[in-house]
Amino acid sequence: MLDIKVTKTTHPKEKPQDESKLGFGKQFSDHMFLMDYTAGEGWHDARIVPYGPWEMDPATTVFHYAQEIFEGMKAYRTADGKIQLFRPDCNANRFNDSADRLGMPPIPPEDFVQAVKALVDVDRDWVPHSDGASLYIRPFCIATDVGLGVHAAKHYRFAIICAPSGAYYAEGLDPVRIYVEDEYIRAAPGLTGFTKCGGNYAASIKAGELAEERGFSQVLWLDGVEKKYVEEVGSMNIMFKIDGEIYTAPCVGTVLPGVTRRSIIELLKDWGYKVHEERVAIADIMKAADEGKLEEVFGTGTAAVVSPVKELDWEGKVAHISGGHIGELTQKLYDTLTGIQWGKLPDTKGWIVPV
Ligand code: COI
Repeated sequence: MLDIKVTKTTHPKEKPQDESKLGFGKQFSDHMFLMDYTAGEGWHDARIVPYGPWEMDPATTVFHYAQEIFEGMKAYRTADGKIQLFRPDCNANRFNDSADRLGMPPIPPEDFVQAVKALVDVDRDWVPHSDGASLYIRPFCIATDVGLGVHAAKHYRFAIICAPSGAYYAEGLDPVRIYVEDEYIRAAPGLTGFTKCGGNYAASIKAGELAEERGFSQVLWLDGVEKKYVEEVGSMNIMFKIDGEIYTAPCVGTVLPGVTRRSIIELLKDWGYKVHEERVAIADIMKAADEGKLEEVFGTGTAAVVSPVKELDWEGKVAHISGGHIGELTQKLYDTLTGIQWGKLPDTKGWIVPV
């Protein structure tokens, strides 16, 4: 159990007036959680302090060698004013899997969840009130040694910041266009694809920019060895409904094990769907589209929630999906997941943790 020292701001910021214009991750709440690590001593100085910049030496290792990991979670406000989290234990465990791969110290999952709850509690007035908006929570950890040698640092800082946010995509729940990336790759076996490390996202930015210039929302990554099998999209996992059954890439090291992905799979199985967590070739997906069997495509993620896809472009071929509309199953998944998260539907699975 952490002993968290709380110092409240004397200058609270003005909260966003118009929650329909929040966007994603653009403004931040009044406080942040910080905790430092020193090798031989462990984690220490857990504290909640006013949100603000901190000073760092230019030779701090994270600036040079990117020893950094993060998580993405949300706090939801229910109609009767309660604040709740969704499966925070899954984020805590995934954080430690990322930490292990990046050679960073783990945080006991119960301490991770305690820190998130404590910060959200202090900033509970920042949890938006309107439908579809929530408090996005960004825990992250960086190496803070000073020096240019390449090795695991002996000092780290763990921080949590919060951003009242709306939909991740400007399109909201309108279906998005996705470009299937055939030049760059995101991950390969043995690398860091399964972690949430900043480096994975840094390596994805150029392809994302090029796709945006061509009018796409994101890229769909293929496997890094054969560039043949679908893996994930920049900010979400992706699922395909083909002939009544669901296909999604397996989490075997190169794909992020999404908390939303896992929850959606559980819901689908409860509803009697056959879910194939297996490698699917992009050529087979385009063929299914040609044959009229590709019924729905949707992304899943904490930020993206459940996002319908209306178009896939691969090597000059275009697959149009669900007539450009959100599919029936995609809508049902969105309604059910957000219903549980915002407390409109009963939490029969024990996914909800009150703050
Ligand atoms: C999330 O869904 O929480 C993520 O971390 C995706 C992010 C890169 C926008």
